[in-house]
Amino acid sequence: MTASKPRVLATRHFPPDVETRLSANFDAKLNPEDKLYDGPLLAKAAEGFDGIMCAAGDPLNAETIVRLPASVRMIATFSVGYEHVDVAAAAKRDIKVSNTPDVLTDATADIAMLCLLGAARRAHEGTSMLRTHSWIGWEPTQLMGVHVTGKRLGILGMGRIGQALAERARAFRMTIHYSNRTRLPTDLEKGAIFYANPDDMLPHCDFLSINAPMTPTTRKWVNAERIARLPKGAIVVNTARGGVVDDEALIAALKSGHLFAAGIDVFDGEPKIHQGYYGLQNAFLLPHMGSATVETRNAMGFKALDNLEAFLLRGQTPPDLVKAS
Ligand code: DGY
Repeated sequence: MTASKPRVLATRHFPPDVETRLSANFDAKLNPEDKLYDGPLLAKAAEGFDGIMCAAGDPLNAETIVRLPASVRMIATFSVGYEHVDVAAAAKRDIKVSNTPDVLTDATADIAMLCLLGAARRAHEGTSMLRTHSWIGWEPTQLMGVHVTGKRLGILGMGRIGQALAERARAFRMTIHYSNRTRLPTDLEKGAIFYANPDDMLPHCDFLSINAPMTPTTRKWVNAERIARLPKGAIVVNTARGGVVDDEALIAALKSGHLFAAGIDVFDGEPKIHQGYYGLQNAFLLPHMGSATVETRNAMGFKALDNLEAFLLRGQTPPDLVKAS
């Protein structure tokens, strides 16, 4: 008699190759229609499952975790960010939590550069002009944006993605300024200018890119006071988490002209984003697609599976175990 496979509940519809491996190695319940679970439904659906494979935005908060059935031993999130999982509540229930670091670094840094360029070079206005048939031809003063090459880029959060963005920005001969909890060693810093206090970096940023995770400390960190410390005409880029920005303050600064533009891939409360963004021509907006390449989404899924397999099939510590801070 063959032993039954551990049971895994997939909260979202994952890429085909990922679901194939999930179904081969586990007794998996997939979600082909990608229906969103709320907390109570998720807790109910998890009855009898050993593991949950979830994604950014799933409500694995303390209330949901308290309600999870005793069968659940592991939550593997298909994301590097894990603010949607209450890791401390999971630890209390002895539920392991894992995430997917490293594999989405390049794709997300690429999107950060796209946001930076799109905002600086007025890409939204350009594409709208074409698509609304209102382009009357080349004009000497048409859609003049901000030069990127040689400017100063301030990076808040110099982890893997921040460093990968710096790498790309150096190809544009940008000067890198950064703030991080800890200063990088010289070989990783590569001449970037470090600020122990991120507020001190702001006056030196022609561009400010948010690459820090969402934590109680970073919640609404980009507020009116800090935006006022940025030079007039600066550009804000956010590819980390929407909650790091105070939307009202950012929108006001984009309207007043204190900021030239913003390039944003992530929003507080997404997909119900602040209505104020829709009317702003100087906001280059993307729908949280930093990691959206076939290669990256497969790699994220395979990493989530590496973790589930290590723990549920082999009884090992998940390689990307997340610990409560
Ligand atoms: C993550 O992994 O945290 C991303 O935001 C999802 O693309």
